[in-house]
Amino acid sequence: MAGKIPEETIQQIKQSLDITEVISDYVQLKKQGRNFFGLCPFHGENSPSFSVAPDKQIYHCFGCGAGGNVFSFLMEIENISFQEAVGKLAERTGIAVSIPNAGDQRSDPLLKEHSQLLEAHELLAKFYHHLLMNTTEGQEALDYLEKRGFSKESLESFQIGWALPNWDFTAKFLQKRGFTAEQMEQAGLIIRKEEDGSYFDRFRGRIMFPLHDDKGKVVAFSGRSLHEEKPKYLNSPETPIFNKSRLLYNLHRARADIRKQHSAILFEGFADVIAAAGAGVENGIATMGTSLTDAHIQQIRRMTDQVIICFDGDSAGIQAAFRAAGLLHDSGCDIKVALIPDKMDPDDYIKQYGADKFRNNVISTAMTLIAFKMEYYKLGKNLQDEGQKLQYIEEVVTEISKLKKAVERDYYLRQLAERFSLSLDALKQQEKQLFFEARKKQTPNERTFQPVTVLQTPKKLYPAFQTAERRLIAHMLKDVDIVYKVRELLNGEVFNLDEHQAIFTYLLGFYEGGNVPDSSTFISFLPNANLRRLVSDIEMMMVSEVINDEEVNDYIKEIFNYRKVLEIKEKKQRQMIAEKEKNYEAAAQLAMEIVRLKKELKK
Ligand code: UTP
Ligand code: MN
Repeated sequence: MAGKIPEETIQQIKQSLDITEVISDYVQLKKQGRNFFGLCPFHGENSPSFSVAPDKQIYHCFGCGAGGNVFSFLMEIENISFQEAVGKLAERTGIAVSIPNAGDQRSDPLLKEHSQLLEAHELLAKFYHHLLMNTTEGQEALDYLEKRGFSKESLESFQIGWALPNWDFTAKFLQKRGFTAEQMEQAGLIIRKEEDGSYFDRFRGRIMFPLHDDKGKVVAFSGRSLHEEKPKYLNSPETPIFNKSRLLYNLHRARADIRKQHSAILFEGFADVIAAAGAGVENGIATMGTSLTDAHIQQIRRMTDQVIICFDGDSAGIQAAFRAAGLLHDSGCDIKVALIPDKMDPDDYIKQYGADKFRNNVISTAMTLIAFKMEYYKLGKNLQDEGQKLQYIEEVVTEISKLKKAVERDYYLRQLAERFSLSLDALKQQEKQLFFEARKKQTPNERTFQPVTVLQTPKKLYPAFQTAERRLIAHMLKDVDIVYKVRELLNGEVFNLDEHQAIFTYLLGFYEGGNVPDSSTFISFLPNANLRRLVSDIEMMMVSEVINDEEVNDYIKEIFNYRKVLEIKEKKQRQMIAEKEKNYEAAAQLAMEIVRLKKELKK
């Protein structure tokens, strides 16, 4: 598995890294005891069963079984080879490595196809950016962007560009670099004409915003018209590398800030994300003009559980914020809503009032979800009208009744009572009534459902022999001597589970190669993900630091006993058959053997 990268280099990289830090780039981790816990990035879940052990430098998910060391984490999450993972981590540590035959791993046709699509996007993004920043053809677009308040730094940092208003500029540019028409069409960069089969550029005379995936690779573009042509924003179609309902604009840049600040800001438009970043608010992300999907929410939840929604201040924006807030709240997020006054959008607001006001008067003063809802239900109502006023009060009291904390319910009911000069007692009574009505409508299941907030590591129950084998492996991972002791006691026999036997065999080889106990290093020696997962799973078990001979003997006995249990089962079956066939002599013989085996079991 280690390929041709020298073993010492791999060790050196591993030693200068902390697995917790690397994984923190992808998963929000919280410390609990010796380990860190978070939501598993390899499967969807709402309560954290993904754990990282800094002392052992391994990770393991109790939910889906994923596990391994820092290299296998990167391999799995980025879908890259071992060599590439080493390369990436080397970059992080500043250790120089030359990755042997990196081109070879691209032999997978699908990966090859993707890498070509990615390459086309990367080349184009660079070229569009050059056209905008450095050429007379891009001057008008550059003037427009500067007038809009985009700084040079923003243009550079978001790699904004300009596509010439020609019909075949992009096609020719990519053709010269060896891309075929089919590839360019598949990338969504050119469009085929039905009539004559000729091609033309999708993006012409547009300001080009590259769309990066979560790893920072350009996977699509959104092109804004310069002179009010429709549509205002033209997006790449869905392609093998671009999925609109997954992509979160700016995720790759914002991830670290989201973690640091323990919150993400969700904007409606990506222009708002760029303007906010220019104003020093770097934890902003946006969907590509679509409503939030489960895939979006899952990605957000992996980084944080606090989201500030900062949508446009018009009624469409407030409606959309209400929907997004509901979905995120249901996924377990703590929501705040930052309202932009006067129907502006965040970008307009920053331009008009500046960065400080945006940070201090909009983001820092974001409302709680319930306060936002109290504003939301006012929309389209005339509160002077008695009927509409009562409807408003009922809607708000319903929301208040859903709040978990009594102090909060009290606080907002008081606010409502004051605002409409109502009796607090009457409101409280109504709140209770609404609460119980809502409860009655719920199914019993919903009623008892409590979101699990406690971090948990479910204990699996294994048969005795399996537990014994797992424990022995856990100790053999810590202590070379135990391996040799076990080999001696097994006396040519093998572990009952093939995977356990495989781990045992690799571990022998590992120690015989002169390695010292280090499960994280050992994991790199294992040839497949299954065994790596199993080792990380076993490593996460709590076992005592040392094991005495008596314990080792007991575990070995369990292993042999299991063999006997199977033998007894088999003999019982044969005994039954013999009796049916009236072969009493054979049956008696089997009965005796069974008694002997049972006696041995008890020893
Ligand atoms: P907005 O129309 O609010 O964009 O659309 P904006 O940020 O204010 O744009 P400017 O300031 O006029 O340049 C919000 C999002 O909806 C998507 C885009 O992703 C945009 O960021 N959208 C909008 C489209 O995909 N196509 C469109 O024609 C318009
Ligand atoms: Mn705008």
